[in-house]
Amino acid sequence: MFLSLQLLLLLTLIVRTALTGGYYEYETNECLTSSSDLTDVEFITTIYFNKEPYIRFNSTVGEFVGYTEYGVKNAECWNSGPYLQQMRGEVERYCKRNLRIFYSHILDKTVRPRVELNAEQQPSGGHTSMLMCSAYDFYPQAIDVYWQRDGKKVTTDVISTEELADGDWYYQVHSHLEYTPRSGEKISCVVEHASFSGPMTYDWDPSLPESDRNKIAIGASGLVLGLILSAAGFIYYKKKSSGRILVSS
Ligand SMILES: *[C@@H]1O[C@H](CO)[C@@H](O)[C@H](O)[C@H]1NC(C)=O
Repeated sequence: MFLSLQLLLLLTLIVRTALTGGYYEYETNECLTSSSDLTDVEFITTIYFNKEPYIRFNSTVGEFVGYTEYGVKNAECWNSGPYLQQMRGEVERYCKRNLRIFYSHILDKTVRPRVELNAEQQPSGGHTSMLMCSAYDFYPQAIDVYWQRDGKKVTTDVISTEELADGDWYYQVHSHLEYTPRSGEKISCVVEHASFSGPMTYDWDPSLPESDRNKIAIGASGLVLGLILSAAGFIYYKKKSSGRILVSS
């Protein structure tokens, strides 16, 4: 199984803008953690003036650090007052409280991918073809998509995209395999995701794709219909002509 490591960032922005002259001051509050047990939560608050950070509180450091003369002065002041104690309590009060809500309502949830295996037409023709294994609408982002030939992992001739964000919390990913079909071999796409209890294997069916099957079915129906009509016409003609012979005799 792959390791799903989630780095969670909880970010708030506080913006103070001086309308005249375009000065821009903003403050970010970040909660960082890499595990749902919340044992390593770090709280960072940074204040920027015109995009330059001038003071930061990092809960691992435990006090304010200034980066400009103004920042250093503020750090001295805030580190010797009650504000420092308040900041030191933010890991519990602000981060853990909100992270727990995030984990129980969003981050622990998983949604299974819809997996599709398709062959792409090669413009050059020839014997090599391109298989595409696509996983759609899954959550969370971490996923592993790879190919197997007769049960062994394929490492060459594979191109994969990043996990692409759909913008609605879901992701998609595509993996391409360039291959030359050989009779008797089995090609599979394997998907590993937190929503599955184990690796899911999707075997490539080398028979004709559905669209081609449909074309053949339509063609065959047309042919059968044509034959029936011809036969009917022929029988009708025979009947008519034999009837005429009867009348004339
Ligand atoms: C916070 O401080 C620790 C210790 O210096 C450091 O390892 C960590 O990278 C800092 N975090 C950030 C986001 O700057």
